[in-house]
Amino acid sequence: MALPTTPSPGSRVIVTGAAGGMGRAITAHLAEAGCRLALCDLVTVDDLAPSVAAQVIHQARLDLADTAAVADGVGALVESLGGCDAVVGNAGVVDTLHRAERFPLDAWERDLTVNLTGQFAVVQAAFPALANSGNGRVVLVSSTAAETGLPGQAAYTASKAGLVGFARTLAVEWASHGIRCNVVMPGMIDTPKVQALTADVRARMAEAIPLGEFGLPGHVAGTIAYLLSPAAAYLTGTTVRVDGGWGLNNRSLARG
Ligand SMILES: NC(=O)c1ccc[n+]([C@@H]2O[C@H](COP(=O)([O-])OP(=O)(O)OC[C@H]3O[C@@H](n4cnc5c(N)ncnc54)[C@H](O)[C@@H]3O)[C@@H](O)[C@H]2O)c1
Repeated sequence: MALPTTPSPGSRVIVTGAAGGMGRAITAHLAEAGCRLALCDLVTVDDLAPSVAAQVIHQARLDLADTAAVADGVGALVESLGGCDAVVGNAGVVDTLHRAERFPLDAWERDLTVNLTGQFAVVQAAFPALANSGNGRVVLVSSTAAETGLPGQAAYTASKAGLVGFARTLAVEWASHGIRCNVVMPGMIDTPKVQALTADVRARMAEAIPLGEFGLPGHVAGTIAYLLSPAAAYLTGTTVRVDGGWGLNNRSLARG
């Protein structure tokens, strides 16, 4: 029997970073699959399409840098959904740029706090509900840059690499509670943040992508939807790169 490759309709899902480019695509994709959604970000989204808004049970402002506030914030999201089957940890500070030798310590700490500690705090707060679900899922949005490095973004890459170890540990610790934990690593995805890069930078990055073009937010959202689906129930502790091959070696010993 073929297992469904999209989440079961009615799945109760928390999405962080829901107001961003990727967050909006994830929200739309999961809404279309019939998930019931609780969204959070620094701001709420007031221009959701009606078909998406119909699936959004609750939206909250939640600053992941305020880690002391996260438990209560996530508790309210869980309560609005009447439980929780999945958390998609997508929020992140993506644009702190300094060379490592000049990286201000406070900027480093903020990236690590939001991108790594914040994700930890959200998932920890959701644990009782995920365990009650019997089929809990956690998907953390990392980055291909966690594996390749990314000059100018030492804190970003460190935080995104940290998510991988964290998710693998969760996968083992929480397996007995039926919770699957996986990581998605986007490469260059055409969200508004990436569209705002200069043409020169975009061209330079595109050159490094074997498939020759940036990905769409829907490529990442679709992968996340799959990881929440019955067909993905045997995946845990994995990382899925959604990057058009960015970071693969493209130098050859062969001529031509
Ligand atoms: N776009 C890409 O090419 C790409 C590539 C690799 C990884 N990613 C990852 O995908 C995710 C989404 O990226 P995006 O391109 O949509 O960027 P984005 O900046 O549009 O979205 C990030 C969201 O996180 C939220 N956020 C930031 N700080 C926060 C805080 N303190 N508390 C709560 N929310 C906070 C922002 O408000 C924003 O809505 C990020 O985790 C990013 O690292 C994106």
